Amino acid sequence: MGLLNSNITARVRAQYERYPYPHVPWWKLLFLPGTKQLERLAVPNARTILVAGCGTLQATLVARANPQSQIVALDLSETALRKAQRIAKFCGVGQAIRFEQGDLHELTYPDASFDYLVCTGVLHHCEKPQSALSELARVLADQGTLRLMTYAPKSRSQIYQLQRLVKGLNLSEAKRTLDSLSRTHQLRYAYRSYSDARTKAGFVDGFLHAHDQPIAYSDFEKWCSSLGLEVLRVDLPPGESLTELARALGIDQQTFSNYSTWKQLEIVDNLSGFRMNPTLVLKKIRA
Ligand SMILES: C[S@@+](CC[C@H](N)C(=O)[O-])C[C@H]1O[C@@H](n2cnc3c(N)ncnc32)[C@H](O)[C@@H]1O
Repeated sequence: MGLLNSNITARVRAQYERYPYPHVPWWKLLFLPGTKQLERLAVPNARTILVAGCGTLQATLVARANPQSQIVALDLSETALRKAQRIAKFCGVGQAIRFEQGDLHELTYPDASFDYLVCTGVLHHCEKPQSALSELARVLADQGTLRLMTYAPKSRSQIYQLQRLVKGLNLSEAKRTLDSLSRTHQLRYAYRSYSDARTKAGFVDGFLHAHDQPIAYSDFEKWCSSLGLEVLRVDLPPGESLTELARALGIDQQTFSNYSTWKQLEIVDNLSGFRMNPTLVLKKIRA
């Protein structure tokens, strides 16, 4: 299913042409994190990196974290790519990155082209996430690393309620509706604490998305195991871990530690335990 043939992909693309994500004000570029603070994004032995669904800022951060690597930054949206290119140039990493328009469902790169893939916040917007993941696995070299973030479905359930509340409204109507939620409304905190809601691009991305379809961890587990992708670690906000979250949620530690990482993710998510979406770091263990 290509750029022009799929209705969903075309609508997702149209959204990000109009509202490239994230919105990055120029002053923010002066305060971007440096290599040390971007340690989690670094894979020291990666010669080639693909940032799949790069949006406006991520390729620059990946380039800063991996100064030794050649990077390809791919996105559906030409507007996002243009902005991303300007940001990279401004930040002095433009030479390290090649920007390309393309669709994750049909990557044009040969098998095993990249040592490291970064794909965060993208698969749940894909019409066929399993096919997109399989394309990512195909272009990843054996022993390569995949950094993947998708929405934790249950922890995000209040955001999905908010989406249903504003479905069909235009941006200003939707914003007015959510801004006017009463102090006692059960969804008010979920909306007010959603920091992305402050920019148009973030608001549309969060509440008016053209296609936002969370993926169950049980599905991921099956897909990854059939593609030879194994979980190396789970990145959560600093100071958090799956075990700590489970303890705080009152889950028996001994039982919890016997589960696979996928099951642990599912359990914590089912209790809406994630404040932020976990990022999975996976390794390809066979071609
Ligand atoms: C929520 S943004 C995330 C941007 C970036 N990865 C980040 O974490 O800041 C999703 C991005 O994925 C891109 N995208 C969505 N579906 C895609 C697809 N099928 N192929 C390539 N890019 C896609 C969008 O154009 C958009 O720029």
